[in-house]
Amino acid sequence: MNIDAQKHAAALKAMDYVRDGMKLGLGTGSTAAAFVDIVGAAVKDGLNLLCVPTSEATHAQAKALGIPLTTLEETPHLDLTVDGADELDDNLCLIKGGGGALLREMIVATASDQMIVIADASKHVEKLGKFPLPVEIDMFGMKSTYDKVISQAKSVGCTGEVKLREKSGGTPYITDGGNYILDCSFYPIEDPVALAKSFHTIPGVVESGLFINIAKTAIIAGEDGVKVLTV
Ligand code: 5RP
Repeated sequence: MNIDAQKHAAALKAMDYVRDGMKLGLGTGSTAAAFVDIVGAAVKDGLNLLCVPTSEATHAQAKALGIPLTTLEETPHLDLTVDGADELDDNLCLIKGGGGALLREMIVATASDQMIVIADASKHVEKLGKFPLPVEIDMFGMKSTYDKVISQAKSVGCTGEVKLREKSGGTPYITDGGNYILDCSFYPIEDPVALAKSFHTIPGVVESGLFINIAKTAIIAGEDGVKVLTV
């Protein structure tokens, strides 16, 4: 199986957890997009779902597929969210936000009874951090927040390059929520729990891409098939 086939296989397996009548959170990224395509086909075949997308991109995809959509204002509690990840470890600590949607992804996942991660095997790592950790920050006081991110990370043993995410033309990338992202190359992140907590002490940090204790199930598709990891 190549990587795209692995993403599709993980997305397909996630349908085992979807029941008629569910309120469903839809993730962001290429693996989540494979899932949204499958959901779209199932809805066309008569499956009854009400979905909340985690980004404008997923909203557009789901709308085009005719998937019934709602918001957390109308439907504040969801049954299940299915989303991808940039990295996951054996404890199902995740790095998310490669696609810039980490804040909405976390809000939607934590509004759900259950979050299932779908991923190809390359995302399953022993230690987090080879993928630069996205940290979403308010635009106001950006340099001050940048310095605090570096010092707080250092206080829990994480050092490395911290870069403001830019678009291809060199202007800062802006999230759906109107914030900046710092991409932090902190490999190896020995203590993801301590690092996530340290970010929460910084007022300018909106959220970090460390998802701790949120997903309890991961569906990982590799060369040799699909396995389900639970914690
Ligand atoms: C977007 C995310 C994605 O889930 C993550 O970047 C994985 O994307 P892909 O499935 O394309 O590798 O967190 O913010």
